[in-house]
This record gives sequence, C-alpha cells and structure tokens, in this order.
Amino acid sequence: MKLFVDTANLDELEQCLKRGFPTGVTTNPSILSKEQRRDFRLHINDMIALLQQHDCDIPLSVEVFTTDPEEMIAQAEEFVGHFGHYPNLYVKVPVGWNELAVIHELRRRGIRVNCTCCMSYNQAVMAAQAGANFVSLFWGRIRDIGYDAGSVVRQVRQTFREWGSAAEIIVGSIRHIADINEAMQAGADIITVPPKFFPQLCAHPKTDEAVGQFVADFRKWQVVGAEAKMAAAA
Ligand code: E4P
Repeated sequence: MKLFVDTANLDELEQCLKRGFPTGVTTNPSILSKEQRRDFRLHINDMIALLQQHDCDIPLSVEVFTTDPEEMIAQAEEFVGHFGHYPNLYVKVPVGWNELAVIHELRRRGIRVNCTCCMSYNQAVMAAQAGANFVSLFWGRIRDIGYDAGSVVRQVRQTFREWGSAAEIIVGSIRHIADINEAMQAGADIITVPPKFFPQLCAHPKTDEAVGQFVADFRKWQVVGAEAKMAAAA
C-alpha cells in the first residue's frame, strides 16, 4: 500500500518527508486556499523545492481551478511550464463528460493525469478508459450521500484487474483512521491522507506502556547498580 500526503502545507509536508514514508503528495484548490495567500505558483514551487531537498521524486498532483475544458488544458500546460522541472508532476482534472476529452488530450500531449472527484464506479472506469494514470475516489464524500465507499472501491479494483488497466486507484477524502484501513482492504493502490492522521497511525497506548516500563526498569537497575558500587567502595 502506498501512502500519499494530502496537503499543501509546507511544515506538515516537511514533517512527513523527514520520516521517509510518503510516496506521493496531492493538493487541490481548497487545500491550497488554507495556506497564506500568495501566488500559487510560488507555493507549489516551494513544495517542489522541499521534495527535492529531501531527495524525493514522488508524484505531486496539482489540480486545475476552472470548470471550462479549454481553460483546463491551458492551465495544465501552464503547470507544465512552471513545474515541469519536477519530473513527477500530475495534473488533477475532475471527472465529467467534457473533462474526459481534457484527460484524453493531456495524455496525448504526454501530461500525466490524476482524475479527481470520482464518487462512483462508472466515473472511475470512464476516467481510466480515457487514459487517467490515477483515479481518485472520494471515500468520505461517497459515504456522505449514503453509499458504501468500500464496495465502490472493490468493484473498481476488480474491473481494473479484469481489464489489466494500468490506472491506479487513489482513495482520498479520508475522515477517520478506520477509513484508511477499510480503503486498503477494499483494494486501493494508494490512500491520500491529511497529515493530522499520521501520528495517530504510529501510536498505541500499549506501546507507551511498554516503552515506559523498559526505561523505568533500566533506570532502576542502573541506580541500584551504582548504589551497590558506592557501598562497596566505602
Ligand atoms: C484528494 O486528492 C483530495 O485532495 C481529497 O482527499 C479531498 O477530500 P475532501 O475535500 O473530502 O477532504
């Protein structure tokens, strides 16, 4: 299973990169809008600089911010112009009828695509057929409308396997730790996770208990040993 970081925050990204586990980064216009207001190109370039500082050549997804298909293509080209020095750039394009033509055209131009905002089986398979490299299914939002996100991911996984599709399934819109485990079991290739969840993924009260006991036992043993030495020398 691959874990991507769903953030545009430089500090959060650095904390994750320092720990070596991220295999990709996803952003979207809303995630970017949480950062200090500035030219988004400067911000994405700062993210790229951080990735490079940490010797990370991992997929970075940057999303178009228009609903007009022609503009999507122009923005994708602009992204390549500004961020193309980073070899693992993916342009995120939302799924839709007109958007399939955008995906197809970008792929024809050699631009890698992460097709985003997929909420259904049909959307995901259409995106893959149009040539998307990544297909992003939104776990939390699918559940918001009462559907079983697990069965959507399982069905897409099965179809991609049967077709021998090269598209990889990203599960995003993670709201709880349980979503990560369930999405993994449903067959996601990649889960993109907001950074706040990563410390929780490493924590367990029994681990704290064990580590506390080991350190306390060792200290006690050392102190008793030192006292015995002092008594013998006196
Ligand atoms: C995935 O690439 C998206 O950034 C994402 O996870 C969005 O989910 P949300 O807007 O429901 O949090």
